[in-house]
Amino acid sequence: MSKLNFKGSVMLNPAPVVLVTSKSSSNKINIFTVAWVSTVCTKDPIIAMGVRPERLSYTYIKESGECVINLPTKDMVKIVDYCGVVSGKKEDKIKHFDLELNKGIKIATPSLEKSPVALECKVKSITPLGTHDLFLLEVLNVKVDENLLDSNNKICFNKANLICYSHGEYYGLISKPLGSFGYSVKKKKKKDKFK
Ligand SMILES: Cc1cc2nc3c(=O)[nH]c(=O)nc-3n(C[C@H](O)[C@H](O)[C@H](O)COP(=O)(O)O)c2cc1C
Repeated sequence: MSKLNFKGSVMLNPAPVVLVTSKSSSNKINIFTVAWVSTVCTKDPIIAMGVRPERLSYTYIKESGECVINLPTKDMVKIVDYCGVVSGKKEDKIKHFDLELNKGIKIATPSLEKSPVALECKVKSITPLGTHDLFLLEVLNVKVDENLLDSNNKICFNKANLICYSHGEYYGLISKPLGSFGYSVKKKKKKDKFK
């Protein structure tokens, strides 16, 4: 297969896309869209997030040392896009969509009632990288909509209608998994058994 080469750029697709709520020192709440976000450590549970310093959210998150990562669903795509193109410096985005907020448990910043999963985070460090600063966020608490739990209390993310972002477009996820963690190895073991 012949390959073309592009100059080094951030082509890691698909990416998650999330709505981040934050609170200023004067108790104002803001919301913005983030795609440069990823889990980087399990224990401690750490998420890395790239934020441009000119965002209003940057100031709020730095001031309070916390934020909430809200996972959006298919029916929230318009909110996701809008909160990613309009700044809280220009408009109160929470008011614009009449978004209901849910009180923080481990932190003072509220989450979005509409989001089925919300990760309450504390800022561990901020490192300037270039266009964006790298925020390392420790997850202190996770709110999960009880409707996502099955009878064994397993969280069924496939029921949540979550979305992702790829090369400028929003996509829904297919509800049936293509495989599950470790299935490739499990198959091999079965084969070995019959060797
Ligand atoms: C799909 C999408 C993904 C985005 N990802 C990021 C991101 O990872 N980091 C960032 O700083 N801005 C990102 N943005 C841009 C901000 O969300 C946008 O500038 C927003 O209006 C900032 O709002 P604020 O000034 O109220 O904080 C993204 C926008 C969109 C539409």
